[in-house]
Amino acid sequence: MKGGESWAAAFAAASTDSMSVYDRIMVPRIFDPWAEALLDAIGVAPGDAVLDVATGPGTVARRAAARAGASGRVAGCDLSPAMLALATEKPPDEGAAPIAYICCPADALEVPDEDFDVALCQQGLQFFPDRAGALGEIRRALRPGGRAGISVWCAIEQCPPFEAVAVGVERVLGAEVALTFRTGPWGLPDPGELGRLVEAAGFTAVEVVRRTLPVVFEGGPSQMLATAGAAVVGPLIAALDERGRADLLAATTQALAPLMDGDVVRSELASHVVTARR
Ligand SMILES: C[S@@+](CC[C@H](N)C(=O)[O-])C[C@H]1O[C@@H](n2cnc3c(N)ncnc32)[C@H](O)[C@@H]1O
Repeated sequence: MKGGESWAAAFAAASTDSMSVYDRIMVPRIFDPWAEALLDAIGVAPGDAVLDVATGPGTVARRAAARAGASGRVAGCDLSPAMLALATEKPPDEGAAPIAYICCPADALEVPDEDFDVALCQQGLQFFPDRAGALGEIRRALRPGGRAGISVWCAIEQCPPFEAVAVGVERVLGAEVALTFRTGPWGLPDPGELGRLVEAAGFTAVEVVRRTLPVVFEGGPSQMLATAGAAVVGPLIAALDERGRADLLAATTQALAPLMDGDVVRSELASHVVTARR
């Protein structure tokens, strides 16, 4: 199984506990600010019908719902029941569009044809076993002229705090495990390949832009390392004995040294943001 596919399988089977690490630590520090950047790039207006593919805990869906307002509507699809459980337990925001969460894989979206003005997919495409099939489904769901916005991380070296975790994982769990970690979220780093995939699915006006945003882990290396609990390596880390865990923290802390500002990890993350039209 390739990195992305094993991550997708791990998401599908994940417990709500491990995904709540994602929701608690990663969403406010990483995925919420990136969701705003994606929505700014694509533009969501009051009354829009919005589809969010690989919605996770509803990160982009909720922010799109706030922009679409009470006259709009949002559907959030994901294959992870644990992620959708976290999404559905969040209370709706006042004045926001209603959100329907649907448990389905991205390459078989359970939504009607040509039903949405906007389709979004934040940090999901790299995990899909059938990326072309998923892009075809996203296009099918859009009305003619509808807009798609898709974000995919650049190479892990351009997301330095996670490269530091990969270095720690490699030292303690070995190169093969580290490779699975690296090739999940950061497994589709080539902007040319990304643009060609989207074009091949029949989209027009495809643009791929590299963006960076700052990221801060005020809880330092241990908070940074905790994010790996929501990763494909989470169960392997949980199975380490006390010595193994201490070694992992020490190796990760050492790799994070250039990013430390006192006790705080301060860095940036780079992502490609694709905009396209049906
Ligand atoms: C890094 S999370 C991003 C979640 C969300 N978009 C956000 O910004 O917080 C990746 C998501 O992709 C979902 N995913 C992975 N493979 C999938 C597939 N084949 N079909 C649908 N969702 C998938 C996972 O369950 C997970 O929720």
